[in-house]
Amino acid sequence: MKIDVLTLFPEMFDVFNSSLMGKAREKGIYELNCHNIRDYSSDKHKKCDDAPFGGGAGMVMTPQPIHDCIAFVDPDHRAKRIYLSPRGKVLTQSLVRELSSEERILLLCGHYEGVDQRVLDMDIDEEISIGDYVLSGGEIPAMVLIDSMLRYVPDVLGNLESTVDESFSGTLLEYPQYTRPQNFLGRTVPEVLVSGNHANVDKWRREQSLEITRKNRPDLLDKK
Ligand SMILES: C[S@@+](CC[C@H](N)C(=O)[O-])C[C@H]1O[C@@H](n2cnc3c(N)ncnc32)[C@H](O)[C@@H]1O
Repeated sequence: MKIDVLTLFPEMFDVFNSSLMGKAREKGIYELNCHNIRDYSSDKHKKCDDAPFGGGAGMVMTPQPIHDCIAFVDPDHRAKRIYLSPRGKVLTQSLVRELSSEERILLLCGHYEGVDQRVLDMDIDEEISIGDYVLSGGEIPAMVLIDSMLRYVPDVLGNLESTVDESFSGTLLEYPQYTRPQNFLGRTVPEVLVSGNHANVDKWRREQSLEITRKNRPDLLDKK
């Protein structure tokens, strides 16, 4: 998968040099290129924002640098072009899975009050939100989208099995997990998990998943 990010703050994406995603990037399993929108501004001061027509608070990102940056990065429109926006379709695990099969993704990160509508109309395929709240910029939403998609790209996770039996892979949230030591400050691991009886372990995990889902996300059970 090749990902291009258009942002005013490319340095924020250094997080993808660490941990699992850093290792996968080093191995060339995916490609991540960050483009500074400011480099494409034709304004002599490299300005990328201006006051909104019609008045109102804040500034709006101007269309020219974004349009030119997209034209340079994806001249033949090969990439699925996404604008991260609180107005977008809300990101879910099934949307993540769907997007993870794209060969090329271009992500536009907004700032200030957002982006001039004309460049969205001309150059963007889809708007995606990471949830019903507003952040100050599209960089963290883009990182959320990238990380969640890359988990489905073969060889990024050591074991793709991890995505099979986890929260949102089905209707239920994941069961509690335990590791060594068996006794931590007087709290012991549930007996069933050290019994060696796999059928009982599966049954216990399912019951726990149900209980946690009922408590925290009863809406998921209604979707059945
Ligand atoms: C302060 S927000 C702009 C909010 C906009 N004025 C509105 O009311 O919809 C600045 C940028 O952050 C990003 N952003 C903020 N919240 C987001 C969310 N929930 N999902 C995705 N992107 C978000 C978008 O790229 C947006 O252009």
